[in-house]
Amino acid sequence: MLAGLNFQTFDWVAPLPNIAGILTDIPPVKSKVSVDFSVPPRAEAFMNPAKPGTQVADEGTTRMSRDTLSITDNRTGKTYEVPIKNDTIHATDLRQIKVKPDEFGMMSYDPAFNNTALCQSKITFIDGDKGILRYRGYSIEELAEKSTYLETAYLILHGELPTRSQLEDWTYHITHHTFIHESVKKFLDGFHYDAHPMGMMISAIAALSTFYPEAKDIFNKESRQKQTYRLIGKMPTLAAFSYRHSLGMPFAYPDNDLTYAGNFLNMLFKTSELKYRPNPTLEHALDVLFILHADHEQNCSANAMRCVGSSHVDPFSATAAATAALYGPLHGGANEEVLRMLLEIGSLANVPAFIKRVKAGETKLMGFGHRVYKNYDPRARIIKRVADGVFEVMGRNPLLNIALECERIALEDDYFVSRKLYPNVDFYTGLIYQSMGFPVTMFPVLFAIPRTSGWIAQWEEMLLDPEQKIARPRQVYLGYDLRPYKPLEQRS
Ligand code: CMC
Repeated sequence: MLAGLNFQTFDWVAPLPNIAGILTDIPPVKSKVSVDFSVPPRAEAFMNPAKPGTQVADEGTTRMSRDTLSITDNRTGKTYEVPIKNDTIHATDLRQIKVKPDEFGMMSYDPAFNNTALCQSKITFIDGDKGILRYRGYSIEELAEKSTYLETAYLILHGELPTRSQLEDWTYHITHHTFIHESVKKFLDGFHYDAHPMGMMISAIAALSTFYPEAKDIFNKESRQKQTYRLIGKMPTLAAFSYRHSLGMPFAYPDNDLTYAGNFLNMLFKTSELKYRPNPTLEHALDVLFILHADHEQNCSANAMRCVGSSHVDPFSATAAATAALYGPLHGGANEEVLRMLLEIGSLANVPAFIKRVKAGETKLMGFGHRVYKNYDPRARIIKRVADGVFEVMGRNPLLNIALECERIALEDDYFVSRKLYPNVDFYTGLIYQSMGFPVTMFPVLFAIPRTSGWIAQWEEMLLDPEQKIARPRQVYLGYDLRPYKPLEQRS
């Protein structure tokens, strides 16, 4: 380390020599690229001319401070200077770093996007270390307390909270797009009685694209608006119909007099009564849960929405892809897995043994951990309060004690503390949903319904961003070089 300088050196295994290593048993060549985060390089080596900066004093020396990053390639001794914007460098600026002029150039390797910004966004802000979540600048705590899901969905999609007339108009249009074509019911009827509702949802959402071929007109603002009404309006209907199908019950049609959450409860639970009246506590709890799930920046399903949407497919097909991404147990399927886990644990006495298995790497504590939150998920905090209200009406869920004991032990145990594993949004939602009468397979569906507004907002932002193109990552190829085809008779 040089005095006063930040100097970091990374080992870098060059991809091409590595391939040669596989083919010829030559060990891969190890090169070093050093990245100097603070010191301007020799002027003659700049490939991007430095912008004029401010002179600042630095431990007795005078140097230029500017928004650039200097990178020295120790294979060649060349130093490059790349611009820093919003605390990021553009990955394509690395391409200029080469040993030979005909090489492809340096890439960054980032499996699972651990440290790669895919886009610039103005929708959702998360500070994972501080446990902060905001939609368009409004804190999730304030929205959960003062807003409704449809108001929040408007905010997420339009960037501002609606005025009274905007909200009326928005609510009217969503409410009047809740019906689905009668033929969609036939699709749902075709599923087996025990089909997972997420599988039914994914198929039904994709099927909607065939009913609305004009949705392909994605650069037409009015068309996008119409598909937005349809998607947000019809998701609860598809979800409720999937549920009723699994029970073998007749579908209950939307009731336009009810709120978004109230109508959903109506379509799920209405039986022979002429008019379904949702329990106000449960209706409110569901609405708050919908607010908490409305968006979460570049998570797996939002990324699926952006990636699939970047091919310019219609929004129904992209939403089906996003819903499929959400279905996985590491994402929106985790709430279902949490409940199965709590049932498997079975009693308070079994919690320590289960935690031991988790620490031994035999299983996961589902509903714990997050790629971004390294602190308590702010949504989980609000959900705990929502749970109290639901349990007052429906009775305390007997699994709650097991969940609380898992959390208590985990928050004190070095395994979880050192890895910064805290309860996430899915840890307590399952208990609430179960108390409200939902079967476990419906839990991810209850995540998908509200997330639709976030997906559409992410999709539209991607479409209108002039810097975005079809999503197409690169790879580091480590497979065989060209080899002759082996006829069948010569293969052992
Ligand atoms: N139980 C036990 N160990 C865990 C858990 C967990 N739930 N989550 C992470 N770890 C360990 C992991 O084994 C690793 O340990 P080590 O460093 O010894 O290898 C370390 O913590 C870091 O984990 P990671 O897998 O590298 O973290 P990630 O950012 O890739 O994964 C996650 C994030 C959410 C997929 C993961 O924490 C997980 O699988 N959690 C359980 C599933 C879950 O609750 N998912 C819902 C996420 S929130 C809502 C949503 O996004 O839909």
